[in-house]
Amino acid sequence: MVSSTSSTFDFVVAANRLPVDRSVSLDGTVTWTTSPGGLVTAMESVMRDREAAWVGWAGFPGDAPAPFDDGRLRLHPVGLSAEDLTDYYEGFSNDTLWPLYHDVIVPPTYHRSWWNAYRRVNERFAEAVCEVAAEGATVWIHDYQLQLVPAMVRDRRPDVRIGWFNHIPFPPVELFAQLPWRAQVLRGLLGADFLGFQRPDDARNFLRSCRAVLDATVKGDTVRWQGSDDGRLGGSPRVARAAAVPISIDAQGLRELADSPAVRARAAEIRESLGNPQVVLLGVDRLDYTKGLRHRLRAIGELLADGEIAPPEVTFVQVATPSRERVEAYRTLRQQIEGTVGRINGDFSHLGDTAVHYLHQSYGREEMAALFQVADVMLVTPLRDGMNLVAKEYVTARHDGGGALVLSEFTGAAEELHSAYLCNPHDIAGLKETILRAIRDDHEEKRRRMRMMRRQVRTRDVQAWADDFLRALEMAPARPPRARRS
Ligand code: ADP
Ligand code: F6P
Repeated sequence: MVSSTSSTFDFVVAANRLPVDRSVSLDGTVTWTTSPGGLVTAMESVMRDREAAWVGWAGFPGDAPAPFDDGRLRLHPVGLSAEDLTDYYEGFSNDTLWPLYHDVIVPPTYHRSWWNAYRRVNERFAEAVCEVAAEGATVWIHDYQLQLVPAMVRDRRPDVRIGWFNHIPFPPVELFAQLPWRAQVLRGLLGADFLGFQRPDDARNFLRSCRAVLDATVKGDTVRWQGSDDGRLGGSPRVARAAAVPISIDAQGLRELADSPAVRARAAEIRESLGNPQVVLLGVDRLDYTKGLRHRLRAIGELLADGEIAPPEVTFVQVATPSRERVEAYRTLRQQIEGTVGRINGDFSHLGDTAVHYLHQSYGREEMAALFQVADVMLVTPLRDGMNLVAKEYVTARHDGGGALVLSEFTGAAEELHSAYLCNPHDIAGLKETILRAIRDDHEEKRRRMRMMRRQVRTRDVQAWADDFLRALEMAPARPPRARRS
C-alpha cells in the first residue's frame, strides 16, 4: 500500500468499514487485515482493479490515517473517536438499528445521545464522500450505518448520482415505526436515486414505510416525496426507485481457490485431525444472536441425547467469529454459547472423540475454503439474515459435487437456493429432522441438490450483482442536473 496525494474519483464507495482494519501490536508494529463480514467479502472483489475511492473507518479509535492507495483503489479513512464508537457504532448502529431490522430478536435500545452521534458521524462520512467525488460521480453508499448519508450528499452535491444498498433486512413498517427517528431515517435514504435491497420483501417494507411514515406517493417501485420540511433534500421533490438486487460471491475465484492443491491437501489434513469421521457437520457464523446458534446447539444437543448422532462417527465443528464484543447482547450470547458447548461436550464427548469443536477465531480464505470442503452437512440456520454469503460460499467450494446444505427459510439466500434442505430454526423438532435428512438422504439426491445450487450461484455471482445495481442506478428516474457543483 502506498500513500498518495488526494484527488477526485468518478466512482466512490462509502461503507462503515474500509476493506482493511488497522491493528497495532504491543511492539508498535502496524498490520492491516481484511475487515470482517459479508459486505467486505462481496465489495472487495467488486472493487478490485477498479479506479475508485472507498470511504470508511479503519477499524481503530482515534484520528483517521492519511488516505492511501491499494492498487488502483484509494482508501479514504474516516476517523471515529472512542465516543463515536460507543454511541454511533456499538450504540445506534448495533444496539438500535441492528436488532430493530432483525425482527427484534433482542429488544432495541433507543437513546437520544446515540442518535445525535449517528447524525454527527453520517455528516462526517458525507463530507468525506463529497471531498473525493468528481463532478457527476457515481456514489454507492452501503448499509444501515449510513442511512442519512444519501440526503447529506444530495444536499451538498446535486451533480452526483447516488445509490444505497442495504446488506441487512429492512423491517416491516409495524416494527420500523418503533424508531423515534423513523421519519429522519427515511428522508435520509430518499436522498438516493436508487435503493437496493436483498429481497423483494425488504424493498416492499421500505416503500410501505415511506407511505405510512412520510405520506409519500408510492407507485410500483417508485417513491415520490416533496422534501420541503427540513431543507435537507434541496427543497425540490425527490423521486427514488427501490428494488431487490440480491448480493452474491466471487464464485469463480472461490471455485479456483477451493480446487487448488494446497486447499485440497489442507481439507484432507483437517479431516484427519478430526479423526476421519463419517459425517462432519459445520457452522460458520459471526457470533451474533441473529445467526440462530442457540437453536442450532439445542438441536445438536438433543440429537446427541437421542442417540441419533454420536462422536466419533459424527462430529460438529462450529466456527464462531468474534464480533461486536463490547455490546452487552453479544457478551451475553457468547457466555450462553460457550456454556452450552461446554455442557454438550461434558455429556457426550469421550477422550479423543469430541462432539462439538468450537473455534472462536478468524481465518484466511484458504482455511475457510478447506473447512467448507470437509463439511458433509453445512448448517446455516439464522433466525433472520439479509443474505448469508456463507451458504453461497459452501455450495461453490464443494466443486466435487458432494455435501448438503441445511438453510433457514429466514435468510435472503433461501429465496435463491431452493434446493437446500430448508428449515424453520424455531421449530427444533423440524430442525432435527432436517439435519438427519441431510445426513441420511442418498448420495444422488444430495448431488442433484448441490448441482442446482452451484449453478444458481455461478450464474448470479457478485459481478452480476454489482452490474445489476449500477445499471439500475444509472436508469433510476431522477437524473440530477450535471455540473452544478458550488
Ligand atoms: P455477515 O455479513 O452477517 O457476517 P455473511 O455470511 O453474509 O454474514 O458473510 C460472512 C463472511 O465472513 C463470509 O465471507 C465468510 O466466509 C466470512 N467469515 C465468517 N467467519 C469467518 C472466520 N472465522 N474467518 C474468516 N472469515 C469468516
Ligand atoms: O451486513 C452486515 C454487517 O453489518 C456488515 O456491515 C458487515 O459486513 C458485517 O455485518 C460485520 O459487522 P461489523 O462491521 O459490525 O463487524
